[in-house]
Amino acid sequence: MRHFLTTGDLSHAELEALIESALRFKTGEDKSKPLADRSVALVFFNPSLRTRASMQVGIYELGGNAVVLEPGGTSWTLEHRDGVVMDGDKTEHVAEFVRVLGRYCAAIGVRTFAALKNWDEERTDPVLNAFAKYADVPIINLESAMHHPCQSMADMMTIREKLGAGRKRVVLTWAWHPKPLPMAVPNSFVLAAAQMGHEVVVACPSGYELDDELMETIRQQSAGAGGRLEVTNDINAAFDGAEVIYAKSWGAKRFYGTPEKDIAQRAEHREKWIVDEEKMTRTNRAIFMHCLPVRRNVIVTDGVIDSPQSVVIDEAENRLHMQKAIMASLLGKKETSRG
Ligand code: CP
Repeated sequence: MRHFLTTGDLSHAELEALIESALRFKTGEDKSKPLADRSVALVFFNPSLRTRASMQVGIYELGGNAVVLEPGGTSWTLEHRDGVVMDGDKTEHVAEFVRVLGRYCAAIGVRTFAALKNWDEERTDPVLNAFAKYADVPIINLESAMHHPCQSMADMMTIREKLGAGRKRVVLTWAWHPKPLPMAVPNSFVLAAAQMGHEVVVACPSGYELDDELMETIRQQSAGAGGRLEVTNDINAAFDGAEVIYAKSWGAKRFYGTPEKDIAQRAEHREKWIVDEEKMTRTNRAIFMHCLPVRRNVIVTDGVIDSPQSVVIDEAENRLHMQKAIMASLLGKKETSRG
């Protein structure tokens, strides 16, 4: 049994194999049904459009059945910490929750966002890791506090599909947003791009750097894959020659627990940190990417997201094909049913 928690657990060859498999699902070359007569649980602590819909459709297309649960809504409130006296508002412990679900389901997907309250705690992904610790079946990370590997692998697939194989100049740019957001998408995008050997540029205002320890891992992965990693506070220079512009907003680590301070700090970046037509002219005809949902004319102008350079809808579609590849890899593809 193996979990899918972060691409950092996979080799370059395994990432390549997932992209190839996802492309086969997309073209229809692979019509296998490895989930026939099996169910997969999808546990959502937070809202979703793409992840929920694409997982449900993907499980169906693989021959399986999706069981969707929302702790505190359609299932009991959940405690994830060990050794606590559960005399508060939590009804069930993850220890029982995941082991019971494992008796019904072949795998469990879980979405559990950062609460943006305590950086030191949330950076360890405590809820996701509690699921992984107690599960007897594979856990699929559908976005945790620190990682969104299904998204980042769909992103790598989209870059491959649009620009072909080989190293690309890939820019992740922070963007202004009215409130602080989690870091899972930028973390996972930069990590996967580094693992793929791309020339990766992270552009963000001072104070909005990603996690130091993760950046060290990313640096090592980049070096191992023959790539390059650069961090800059200069958004305009970052766009020069870019082949991929990936926009995302995230909150500052030091302001976890004090969102009003982050909101005050980020106000000065509102005008400059947006993806617009002028900045896109500096690129090497870059494709524009965003995980969605996106706030138009806040993160990106209408002119860019509606332009032919924008690939956001294809990127969202690729979530379906990539997640089918991930589930087939985890749960055993039946080669005999291909074709
Ligand atoms: N990109 C993404 O994960 O979208 P949802 O939050 O709608 O699932």
